[in-house]
Amino acid sequence: MTAPTQIVILGASGDLTLKKLMPALTRLAAAGRPSDGFHVIGVARRPLTDEAFRAQIRALLPDDLHAAFDAFAPRIGYQAADVSDPVAMKALEARLDALPGGAQAGRLFYLALKPELFGPTVQELSASGLVTMRVGEMPAFRRVVIEKPFGHDLASAKALNSQMHGLLREDQIYRIDHYLGKETVQNLLGFRFHNAIFEPLWNRHHVELVQITVAEDIGVELGRAGYYDTTGALRDMLQNHMLQVLSLVAMEPPVSLDPEAIRDQKVNLLRALHAPDPAEVATNSVRARYVAGQVNGVAVPGYRAEEGVPPRSDTETYVAIRAEIDTWRWHGVPFLLRHGKRLEKRFTEVKVQFRMPPLQLFNRPEGMAPNDFRRALHDGSLCQIRPNVLTLSIQPREAITLAFGVKRPGAEMVMAPAAMAFDYRDAFDAPSAAAYERLLLDAIRGDATLFLRADEIEASWRFADEVLGGWAQGRAPLGEYAAGSWGPEAADDLFHGCEGGWSRG
Ligand code: BG6
Repeated sequence: MTAPTQIVILGASGDLTLKKLMPALTRLAAAGRPSDGFHVIGVARRPLTDEAFRAQIRALLPDDLHAAFDAFAPRIGYQAADVSDPVAMKALEARLDALPGGAQAGRLFYLALKPELFGPTVQELSASGLVTMRVGEMPAFRRVVIEKPFGHDLASAKALNSQMHGLLREDQIYRIDHYLGKETVQNLLGFRFHNAIFEPLWNRHHVELVQITVAEDIGVELGRAGYYDTTGALRDMLQNHMLQVLSLVAMEPPVSLDPEAIRDQKVNLLRALHAPDPAEVATNSVRARYVAGQVNGVAVPGYRAEEGVPPRSDTETYVAIRAEIDTWRWHGVPFLLRHGKRLEKRFTEVKVQFRMPPLQLFNRPEGMAPNDFRRALHDGSLCQIRPNVLTLSIQPREAITLAFGVKRPGAEMVMAPAAMAFDYRDAFDAPSAAAYERLLLDAIRGDATLFLRADEIEASWRFADEVLGGWAQGRAPLGEYAAGSWGPEAADDLFHGCEGGWSRG
């Protein structure tokens, strides 16, 4: 029989703990997952009783979780500790030892901390012996979950990785990217590799272009300006969440569902992502900042006027990149990535646009001679809408749509757009679990598939660094867009010829 897992959350008083982790843990506890159960000890510096900590959590939970929380609350405790104080760490250890299973229980240390504290905290955990397997004893696992951002650039990510590797084994490190916890993101893998009908088409011979959008209507949230202004859209979303989605869309098939088999393929893909030189950054990337505008009919301030943002800030809140993947499968296929805050609406989506048939027979404009039609298609002065697009809607809609053309009823041979659609909401009763619920459960179970390996993080920073380097040289100057719009017009130019334009969700 195994003992309940002991989860230690460092940074227990922060937003992440109260708004994301505790609701997820409450839901897991209510569902009886994992079957051996778990205890939670929140750690922060401020003195607080167990009761006060529980009350703080309860106050922020939605009403429908209150009953579940009340049943779970006795398994939640709080320990005031400064991790750099050995005496406090001893007290924490004594507290954990006193829980069911004691030192033989699996221990998960969740760093819900500011990124600059990741290194020093693991150092202290290691020095105190809390994450170390002791000789002569057989404690169960000791794992550390590390939040994003993992590094600020390639050099800092490498330094953090090497510091971690001096203190922990790679299999003890769970670097989180909450996008991988989303049901629809995991389904990218299932959809691609369970269904054989798409794979023969999933390459440069049949795919014209892929676009990935993460559009948000929110701006910088209250209290986040300090973090966001030193981070920006590229580091905050593209380097991590978007490149994760990209790697799942474009990777080669794994030989098994083993975590390493999957992560090996993701790393290979990220390594094949062409790192643009400054000239390419200038033509293939767009960055911008929102100015005052209206979102959903409500007037909102510009980025520089947000609370806590320096009035002369040059941080981008929008990024769009035309990327290329140097593999046999994808060479020459543009991957257009776009993310922005304060856009017209919130949606995350992957669109795979298939090529036109070699001969375009249909929909000749009225009055245009067949030869002129042929010539216009050839020289690109006439573009036809691509009939075949596969849309993988990640959120808020969770759906898959395959578009194709059908003959419009009538005496003429006119083709009209049609689609087949699947929607999670209609197909399954249960709503998708929140990302953190799935990821916490996996970390407890020791399944690292949905967590990032050291080499994966470094491969994505290598790409991001090249773009940031080009920007630092003044390539792709920072533009502006009105809040509530679809972003800067310059981003439309990332589409060439008849490739089409950005999705509006
Ligand atoms: C976080 C970013 O990682 O993801 C935020 O730091 C962003 O800026 C958030 O708003 C978006 O997450 P989701 O799950 O709402 O798409």
